[in-house]
Amino acid sequence: MSTTVQILDHRTLEEREREFLPGMGKPWLLPFYDLFSRRVGARALHERAAALADIAPGQSVLDVGCGTANLALTVLRAQPAARVTGLDPDAGALRVAARKATRRRVPITLVQGFADRLPNGDGSLDHIVSALALHHVPEEGRVLFAREALRVLRPGGKVTIVDFGGADSASGSDDSDHSGHGHGGHDRRGHGRRGEHGRPRGHGPADLVRLLADAGFAGAREVERMEHRFGPITFVQASRP
Ligand SMILES: C[S@@+](CC[C@H](N)C(=O)[O-])C[C@H]1O[C@@H](n2cnc3c(N)ncnc32)[C@H](O)[C@@H]1O
Repeated sequence: MSTTVQILDHRTLEEREREFLPGMGKPWLLPFYDLFSRRVGARALHERAAALADIAPGQSVLDVGCGTANLALTVLRAQPAARVTGLDPDAGALRVAARKATRRRVPITLVQGFADRLPNGDGSLDHIVSALALHHVPEEGRVLFAREALRVLRPGGKVTIVDFGGADSASGSDDSDHSGHGHGGHDRRGHGRRGEHGRPRGHGPADLVRLLADAGFAGAREVERMEHRFGPITFVQASRP
């Protein structure tokens, strides 16, 4: 029996006009995303994030900025009895995700939308995961994401985020604006910081920890750190009190 995966559109009319930074920076590079992701060893990050999330059978999980669903599908491989939803504004990436899930015959829900307005009801989720996505979200969107994450998780629900984690902006050493736009490290559309050679510099682990703690999460902390050829990678976890 084949599985057909549907893509739901959660965007408002205004959100349909909203720009976002796609996975490879340019929409036309999407066909190369998975190849690139494999080549740079992102799979190890997805596997580690899924292991740290440690999803139990039947738990509901939202992958924010899922792109082509690499983390979502890794979570499902680790825990086939999880109920996984992937959220991303990029329709093309979601179509790739749907094809992959259909080919693997795994049940997944895919939703087109943004991190700052999650498609789930209050207290309805056990876990939120996100890989290499929050540095694509503008600062104010990240603050809204953290509030939304708190809203949709049940008490005791957890968030596991893996992202680029250079020096913390609080340290001052990595917060200077090398982009040349003078927008606090974000480009004109408010997208994430880029370092030398256009590589994403992300945000420091303390930035993510602070983001979650400020939103009201408990126990927000960096649980692991990895060196990657693009720079340090941070794994941050927190739970809803
Ligand atoms: C580098 S890709 C990571 C994709 C996937 N999580 C992975 O690990 O392969 C970043 C993703 O963030 C998505 N994105 C950009 N802006 C977003 C936003 N405001 N809300 C949610 N996702 C966003 C992009 O469309 C892209 O799919």
